Amino acid sequence: MGEVSSKLLCRLGPVTLPSPILAASGTAGYGTEGFGYMMQDVVGAIVTKGLSLDPKKGNPPPRIAETPCGMLNSIGLQNIGLEAFLKEHMPTIRKEGTRVVVNLLGEREEEYLEGVARLAEEGDIVAVELNVSCPNVRKGGLAFGKDPEVIYRLVKKAKSHSSTPLWVKIPPDGTNFVEVAQAAWEAGSDAITVANTYVGMAVDVEKKRPKLSTGTGGLSGPAIRPLTLYRVWRIARRAPVPVIASGGIGSARDALEYIIAGASAVQVGSASFANPMVYLEIARGIEAYLSRHGHRELGEIVGSLRGMPEDSV
Ligand SMILES: Cc1cc2nc3c(=O)[nH]c(=O)nc-3n(C[C@H](O)[C@H](O)[C@H](O)COP(=O)(O)O)c2cc1C
Repeated sequence: MGEVSSKLLCRLGPVTLPSPILAASGTAGYGTEGFGYMMQDVVGAIVTKGLSLDPKKGNPPPRIAETPCGMLNSIGLQNIGLEAFLKEHMPTIRKEGTRVVVNLLGEREEEYLEGVARLAEEGDIVAVELNVSCPNVRKGGLAFGKDPEVIYRLVKKAKSHSSTPLWVKIPPDGTNFVEVAQAAWEAGSDAITVANTYVGMAVDVEKKRPKLSTGTGGLSGPAIRPLTLYRVWRIARRAPVPVIASGGIGSARDALEYIIAGASAVQVGSASFANPMVYLEIARGIEAYLSRHGHRELGEIVGSLRGMPEDSV
């Protein structure tokens, strides 16, 4: 089942993967839940659930609410902690040959730096994806990823702490998302993941209460695809490094929209909850598209979008 054509070979700066389809953070556990043998080449890499140095309990329920064309979540960064991940999951990941990207989170710069340095010791982590949507405790809870200067400093230091390829996953909410992405690539990020979930909320009208215990949460799924597609296009046309798209991808057509708009790889998140075969379907669909259009390799269609008016904003 795991065979994919060499046409899907995906180059992300220093990283080469057999497929451009990745499993998005928080939707594929720690990479040990069936991804090993089954998905070998179909899934280019799995991105772990966000990991912090210390374990986190997360938010009280309810943490998930369905919305039209999407879902809200407020998991609250629940995770087992970096050391437990390395001890409990890395042996299986290694045994099964799963390519794993670690999504790293922190509330202080030092937490990220320590995490990056610890992961570099492992030697076989494909990349570290910095989740900079986390609240920065020193900046009164403003997310790291909303401040280009903070991002520049963090990424510059993280690069000096490790030779593992580094990706920065930006939050989509600010109007300065291009500046944030630019700060990341200027500081040395090897790729930019665009983007995390959008802040949203839902109300139970009978109870007159929010549907999530935290009131607000992160919106994902098809509802966000046009918004994130726009961000990917804006960023990819300027970025000197690869862009990895994440937002509402559930079919080959969705993935192709992003790739044509400039993404070199895609991450599939919420869609995998309803359809675990989605990665394979997307891989087969992209292969068929490349053949139908006479392309020899994926790289030929990355950023191949035509007809955007010069003055599109
Ligand atoms: C339940 C859930 C948990 C998530 N946890 C994380 C996380 O720990 N770190 C992170 O960077 N993104 C996390 N995300 C965001 C996803 O990785 C992805 O960027 C987002 O859901 C958009 O993609 P989608 O529409 O395909 O789901 C999570 C998303 C969901 C739905």
